[in-house]
Amino acid sequence: MGLVDLINRRRTTRHFEPDGLFLPRETIEEMITQASAIPSEFGVKPWRFIIVRDRERKQVLYECAYGQDLIRQAAAVIIVCGDTRVDALVGKNLEKKVDEGLITAEEAKTCLEIVRKTIESSPRARLQMAVRTPSYAAFALMLLATERGLATASVSGFSEEAIRRAFHMSDRFIPVQLVAIGIPSMQHPNASSASTESTSQFIFHEDMGLTDI
Ligand SMILES: Cc1cc2nc3c(=O)[nH]c(=O)nc-3n(C[C@H](O)[C@H](O)[C@H](O)COP(=O)(O)O)c2cc1C
Repeated sequence: MGLVDLINRRRTTRHFEPDGLFLPRETIEEMITQASAIPSEFGVKPWRFIIVRDRERKQVLYECAYGQDLIRQAAAVIIVCGDTRVDALVGKNLEKKVDEGLITAEEAKTCLEIVRKTIESSPRARLQMAVRTPSYAAFALMLLATERGLATASVSGFSEEAIRRAFHMSDRFIPVQLVAIGIPSMQHPNASSASTESTSQFIFHEDMGLTDI
C-alpha cells in the first residue's frame, strides 16, 4: 500500500470488537521496533512504551481516560511516554560517540550547547522535547497497525496524574498519548471523518503575518 493510501485508510476507530482479537506481545513489540526507525530529536530515544493488554489493566486505563470505552474494547493500548530528560540522554549519547571516535569532543560540546540553549529558550521547551519525538512514534505505530489491517485510535483525553499513579511512572516521564489497537466493530462502523476544510487556510508562505486566525 502506498503512503498516501495508508494515511487515508487510517481512521479513528471508537468501537472495537471486544475480545475480537488476540494481539500477541511479540507483534506489538515488533511494531514498536519498526516505529523506532523514525527520526528522533538529537538522535536519542526519549520514550517508553507501556503495552496494556490485560483486561484488568485496561479497566484501570479506561478509568484514567474518563471512561472512554474504546480503551476497554481494544485488543491492546500502548501508553506512549516521553522523557523530560532529553538533555541527559543527549549528553550520554555524545560522550559515547566521542569515546568511539565518531565525533570530536568539540562537535559534542557544540551539540550539547544547542540542546542547553534550546531548553533555556522557553519554559515550554523541555516539555516540547519530551512530547515531540514520542508523538512521531505514536503516529508511526498507527500507520504500522493500519498496514497490518488493524484499526487504531489515538487518545489524549486522560488524566496524566492518574496514569502516572496507576502505571507507576516517575515524574521524569509524561504520558504523551494512548494508541488503541484492535479490530473495528461490525456493529458500529466508522462514521466518515473526511475533512471538508480547505487546507489553504492553514498554509503560509515565508511568514505568518502575526495572524491569530
Ligand atoms: C493527539 C490526538 C488525541 C486524540 N484524543 C482522542 C480522545 O481522547 N478520544 C477520542 O475519541 N478521539 C481522540 N482523537 C481522535 C480525533 O478525534 C480524530 O483523529 C479526529 O476526529 C479525526 O478523525 P480521524 O482520525 O478518523 O481522521 C485524538 C486524536 C489525536 C491526533
